[in-house]
Parts: sequence; structure tokens; C-alpha cells
Amino acid sequence: MSVPIKIAVAKGDGIGPEIMDAVLTVFNSVGVPLQYEFIEMGKTYFLEGYGTGMTPKAMKVVEELGILFKGPMETPKGKGMKSINVTARKTWSTYANRRHFQSLPGVDTVFSRAGIPIDITIVRENIEGTYGGVEHMNTHDVTICRRIISRPGSEQVIRFAFEMARKEGFTKVTCAHKANIMKITDGLFLEVFQDIAKEYPDIQSNDIIIDDLAMKLVARPHEFQVVVLTNLQGDIMSDLCAGLVGGLGFAPSANIGDHIAIFEAVHGTAPDIAGKQMANPTSLLLSGLMMMRHLGFVKQAAQIENALRYTLEQGVHTADFGDRSIPFSTTHEFAQSVITNLDKEPEFSKPRIAKDGVPLFIKPLAATHQKMMESTKDKANKVIKGVDLFIESSEPGEAIAATIQPLLSSGQKLVTISNRGTLIWPTGSVFTELVDHSCVRIEQEQGEMTQNEVFELLKKVGKQYMIPSYELLRNFGIKTGYSLTQGQ
Ligand code: NAI
Repeated sequence: MSVPIKIAVAKGDGIGPEIMDAVLTVFNSVGVPLQYEFIEMGKTYFLEGYGTGMTPKAMKVVEELGILFKGPMETPKGKGMKSINVTARKTWSTYANRRHFQSLPGVDTVFSRAGIPIDITIVRENIEGTYGGVEHMNTHDVTICRRIISRPGSEQVIRFAFEMARKEGFTKVTCAHKANIMKITDGLFLEVFQDIAKEYPDIQSNDIIIDDLAMKLVARPHEFQVVVLTNLQGDIMSDLCAGLVGGLGFAPSANIGDHIAIFEAVHGTAPDIAGKQMANPTSLLLSGLMMMRHLGFVKQAAQIENALRYTLEQGVHTADFGDRSIPFSTTHEFAQSVITNLDKEPEFSKPRIAKDGVPLFIKPLAATHQKMMESTKDKANKVIKGVDLFIESSEPGEAIAATIQPLLSSGQKLVTISNRGTLIWPTGSVFTELVDHSCVRIEQEQGEMTQNEVFELLKKVGKQYMIPSYELLRNFGIKTGYSLTQGQ
């Protein structure tokens, strides 16, 4: 018998306690070497004034144990209330969100009827992208959101996808992106993917443009195994995949960081059925199996998954799915059926066999200081070639150019003016519609610009226009660090 591992457990709100009790009963029946420390986390603690939705003691327990198994939690409605779930994921740097979508017996879908099995794992970057929530209202009419894609952030999540694939018996990893349009941000994500893929020659790798992925997931889902994506794109594709296998109720989820990992069901607290023993515990049970595999309890996870599949094959179901001619089981009865079938193997649908080996789990560090993410030690020569000034103006390009050009110092050149990324000066079309936010691109004709010269320019232009934001145009060695305007 393995040495027991202690994990933090939060039962959650709404249906959380019912489904968590059902799942832990199943775990206990196979003697999984886990010890549970129940923590104070959820809506009650939020309402008691703990902004993170957990007590300091609960936070300490999670940080010491490194694994949190949680039921769904309600975010009280109202302004300024941040989701407890999102806060936990970000606070503990769980950079990889892993969701598994598989065909399950008894769950009727278009693909199950066509006899096409689905087994797709989405690995979504969980911290950055547009989810940094860095947004500004630049003018009355124009709002912007910064989409942050970092090299270390991309490396973490992409490496996790390959490590997971290798350990759990997948043979192919696909990177989905929009690098044809977002050449710098998604271009970086793709470049990192291609570099890391070289370290895993035993695993096939390819990339696909995100819109093509959306179509192919619907048309030929069985061609995909592991797909790694940036945050928002991953969020959307996850729900698409949930639709392929019968909805969110069957999708387990893990939020993985280097030191802390959170395992939870994808669905919410289902307040409409809470306390009625009607909830389906499958999603939380599958999340628990992901956790067991993460901790290295591969055999026990396979035994429970076989029992679950056999149970579903027998037509056992809760009220939310399955054959209506068969009476539905309560949450507790459903768990008991899985327990009764622990010595059974499914006839028609075997789970994928994960390789035995070193668990992915890495022990939590004693957190004595804030962790710096590894810098890539870039030695490239960085130069400022110019600046993009975003000005508030409703004038056409010619009028803006006539105001700006006399303000430039010798050697500085007005290169382009664009509006929502489309060129409006020196060439353009009267059919291009304008908003009150234009980008004036000024470059140094020879050599480079200093930061002070940029500030001088800002001062001069600032006397004529409001400049709600600006971006330096920098080159990093041979890499141009800014995009061209559409039409340039
Ligand atoms: P929900 O997922 O709780 O419910 C949507 C519908 O699905 C309801 O009809 C519900 O009865 C049904 N449903 C959900 N899980 C089920 C299960 N296991 N078995 C049977 N039926 C199930 O989504 P909703 O109503 O939008 O959110 C309710 C609360 O949950 C909100 O406070 C929300 O913030 C929270 N939430 C928490 C999440 C988490 O803890 N990770 C994720 C999503 C929502």
C-alpha cells in the first residue's frame, strides 16, 4: 500500500456537498491512499468578509498540501464580487487548465449515434491572454483590452501539454492559434510550441489555425488528442468540445501549477436542484480520477473509470441524462452502483490506459518569497525605432498629418496614420469608416530614438491632441517588435 497523500477538500456550495460525498465514498471503496483535510472555502466565507472566499487557515492548508479537490462554488451576485474559483486559479498560478472530453456510454450525442468515439484533452493557458483583464476606455467611443502572451507563460503550459501526453499515453499534441493575424502574440505562442516539440520526438506535433480547428472539431473530432491553446481561444474551444460529448455535466477539469493543482467539475452549483439528491456526480468523479492519475494512482483510477463506464453501459443514470424509460437514480444511488461494479470492465468502451510512472505532481515549496518566472535571458540588441501615438481625434488622415508633421524634429518621419488598424494616411479610401482614435506612427529615419526623444515628442503632440496611450516601436535583434498596419 502506498503512503497516503494528504489533500485539501472543499465541498463547495449548492449541489457541491452531495456530489463530493458521493465521490469520496467511491474513492474510499477502492482504498485510494488519500487523506482529506476539509477546508473553509465557499460562499459562506465570502459573505463573512473573506474576499478570496476562503479563510487564511484554508489558504495555508492548500499552500502546504499542494492539492485542492473542490466542489462548485457560488460567487455572490453584485458589483465587485470576484469569482472564488478564478481567484484561486490565479492566486496559485495554476497556469494550465486541462479539460477532458470523452464519449461515455449512455450519453446520447450525434457522434455516439454515428459510432464515432471522442477522446480530446484541451490544455488551455489559464493566467494571461485577455484574462489579465487589462482594459481601458481610451476615448468615449473606443475601448481596448491588452492581450498579454509571455514567453515563460507559453513555455509552462506547452511543456505541461507534452509532459502530460507522454505520461498518459497520448501520441499527438496540436497547437491551435491565430498566428496568421496576430503574428506577434500568437506568433510567439506558436514559436515556443515548435521549439518545445523538438524535445519530444516520440510525440507527433502539428499546428492549426483556430477557426479551422473549430470546423474540424465538429466535422472530425476523432482526429484530435491533445490541443494546447491560449486562454480565451481555449475557453471557447473547451465549451465546443463539451457540446460534442453531451454537455458540461460530463467534463472534468484540472487547474495545474508547479506547486498547487486544483481539481473541480466544470459545472456550477446548480441551485435549482441543490439538496434534492438529483445531481449527477460524474463530472466531479472524473475530475477526481484526473487528480488520482496526477498523483500517480493510475491503477485505482482505471478501476473506478471502468466501473463508471460499466455502470453507464447498464443504463444507470441520474435525472439529467440517459434513457427516460429507466427510472433515474439519486446521487447517492448512482455512486453506490459504481461501487457495486468496481470489479467490472466495460464491454464497449475501454478508457485510455495511462502509463505507470512518476506522478506529475511536484511538492509545494515553502513559500518564503514571491517567485520570479524564469526570464529567457535574451541577449538581443534592443533599439527603439519610433513610437505609435494613439490620439483622440475625429479628423481624417490628411488633417492629422498636417498638424503632426511640423512638430517633428529632424530625422523623425511620420510613417503612417491608421484607424482601428486600417491605413488612412498616406494612402487610404474615403470608404474606410473612422472612430475618434487614430494611431500616428513616427519613426527615426536613421538609427534609433531615445526614450527622452519619445517623451519630447509626446509633449509636443500632447499640446495638440489627447494621447490616451502610446507604444514604443522596438526591434529585438533581427526581430521587428511591432505589426504593420493593414494596407501598409
Ligand atoms: P450550473 O452549472 O450550476 O447550472 C446550469 C444547469 O445545469 C442547471 O439547470 C443545473 O441544474 C444543471 N446542472 C449543473 N450541474 C449539474 C449536475 N452535476 N447534475 C445535474 N444537473 C446539473 O450553472 P449556473 O446556474 O450558471 O451557475 C450557478 C452558480 O454556480 C453560480 O453562482 C456560478 O457562479 C457558479 N459556478 C461555479 C463554478 C465553479 O465552481 N467552478 C462554475 C460555474 C458556475
